[in-house]
Amino acid sequence: MQRFARIRPVAVAALAIAAAAITVWAWPTNVGTVREGEQSGTAQIGGPFELIDHTGRTVTEQTWRGQYLLIYFGYSFCPDVCPLELDKISRALDRLDESAPSVLDRLQPLFITVDPQRDTVERMAEYVDHFHPSLVGLTGNADQIKTAAAAYRVYFQKSGDTDGDDYLMDHSSVIYLMDGQNSYVGHFTIDDDAQTIAETIRQRIGQDIG
Ligand code: NI
Repeated sequence: MQRFARIRPVAVAALAIAAAAITVWAWPTNVGTVREGEQSGTAQIGGPFELIDHTGRTVTEQTWRGQYLLIYFGYSFCPDVCPLELDKISRALDRLDESAPSVLDRLQPLFITVDPQRDTVERMAEYVDHFHPSLVGLTGNADQIKTAAAAYRVYFQKSGDTDGDDYLMDHSSVIYLMDGQNSYVGHFTIDDDAQTIAETIRQRIGQDIG
């Protein structure tokens, strides 16, 4: 937990910068609320969801009970941040595979789309294939995605030419770490590199498996 305590000011600064950069940015709850939750150890991040994985299987937050979850929301047509963050997550997972395979066994990385209109099951299967073999892509109908994103306080909204199929999605970019009981452990931002993510996860899950 110390690691997350130390990165918190940086994360908040990054959010402020992101808020300034994205004109329609609107974090659904204010950052102060999130921080308060973290400090009291009862952050209300995470909650029930029902989605479809990239093989067409219906899954819920209970599907991986006992596993830590590394959760990132984005979309496969994202031109910039999503592929970079997913690549970073993949490199962190590779590091764990080399240095602490038993830790990696306890971790399920999930990529949840905020663009269910274009991110079909087939599309997600193709997309996650570009990244780490353990990465699972999740999609669903608009309501299911809305519920999952709200549980994780993820903001998303169409932008650009919203009439056709050639639009962009504005969305928050946060990588959440949840424990085996679906409780929030901490999060990473674009400022955390693969090495930091791998080491933080190794320490945290390492405590559990001894
Ligand atoms: Ni993106």
